[in-house]
Amino acid sequence: MIPVCQPFLNGNELKYVNDAVRTGWISSSGKYVKAFEEAFAEYCGVKYAVGVCNGTVALHLALTCLGIGQGDEVIIPDFTMIASAFSVCYTGAKPVFVDADEKTWNIDVSKIEEKITPQTKAIMPVHIFGNSCDMGSITAIAEKHHLFVVEDAAEAHGATYRGHKTGSFSDIAAFSFFANKNLTTGEGGMVVTNNKDLYHKARYFKNMCFDLNAPRNYIHNDIGFNYRMSNLHAAIGLAQTEKADEYKEMRIRNGKLYRKYLKDIKGIILQQDQPEAENVFWMNGILLDPEKYGRTRDELVDLLKENGIDTRLFFVGMHRQPSLLNFGCDGTGDYPTTDNLAQNGVYLPSASNLKEAEIKHICEVISLS
Ligand SMILES: Cc1ncc(COP(=O)(O)O)c(C=O)c1O
Repeated sequence: MIPVCQPFLNGNELKYVNDAVRTGWISSSGKYVKAFEEAFAEYCGVKYAVGVCNGTVALHLALTCLGIGQGDEVIIPDFTMIASAFSVCYTGAKPVFVDADEKTWNIDVSKIEEKITPQTKAIMPVHIFGNSCDMGSITAIAEKHHLFVVEDAAEAHGATYRGHKTGSFSDIAAFSFFANKNLTTGEGGMVVTNNKDLYHKARYFKNMCFDLNAPRNYIHNDIGFNYRMSNLHAAIGLAQTEKADEYKEMRIRNGKLYRKYLKDIKGIILQQDQPEAENVFWMNGILLDPEKYGRTRDELVDLLKENGIDTRLFFVGMHRQPSLLNFGCDGTGDYPTTDNLAQNGVYLPSASNLKEAEIKHICEVISLS
């Protein structure tokens, strides 16, 4: 079976993890956490980074630092991974959904303003599958309406927009280092920001609200979280960040090869890059037009499986999630693009070290009539 993804660990990962184990620094103290945070901040082109234990809590921490809570609303794309929405719910605020753009599959920027209310506090753009959002327009809307921007950059390490890396456009941003991500620590996440105050808040809240500047007296003035990243995970993360440019090029090469081999197949629609952006192809998704293609998405999934090729279905829209509707989110209204993506989209094997022959084989199977 060609898996949908697998981690690629071919740098100093073992050396650094061995060092952490050998020296006994396996918890959240230890040199690799700080080294990884500094290296990742530099890679993203931001001043500060705070390591945490996964991307979901990175989002929650980012929203907490901005003071978002009960009674507030946060605008998110309808087409995203559920963690974008759940992180808003954890604060007590409500996620409000905006349909996807037909071409880029990111949030449809032209539909954001109609969802802004007096309760709206922030916009959370998500760089879907590694394709940067139109951050110029999103930050302009946010400025006009005095809203925060929280980038969910979980899928977009190193992607750029107008030459700047994702994570650097917002008040505060979150990354995931889950095993299938372009950079991984197994489980892990990072909050990045240029704002010193938010940086201090992130360090404070992630560690049970221990006072950052006073001796440990075990007095906690706020409700905090244990969202700490371990030195073991950070050791892997530092090694991955050292190779970030190389890994990014491998994913971009995959994306280009898929486009080359899929371009003449009728009824296969590809995600279009956001203008002025560089897509890092975390996942290579395809959208079917079943009539033109001659098969449904589920028939294609079966065909690929029979040929030893693993796939994953696209996300189901947030407006269709029972958990969010029960939470009180408004699921009314139409989300035709998200619904189409959810019904007809599938993503193909996308690991960094996929071989050209494998990509060619996958595309040949897709082209079988
Ligand atoms: C868009 C998006 N946001 C958030 C997350 C959550 O990250 P994690 O799985 O590390 O909690 C993911 C994970 O895949 C994601 O794709």
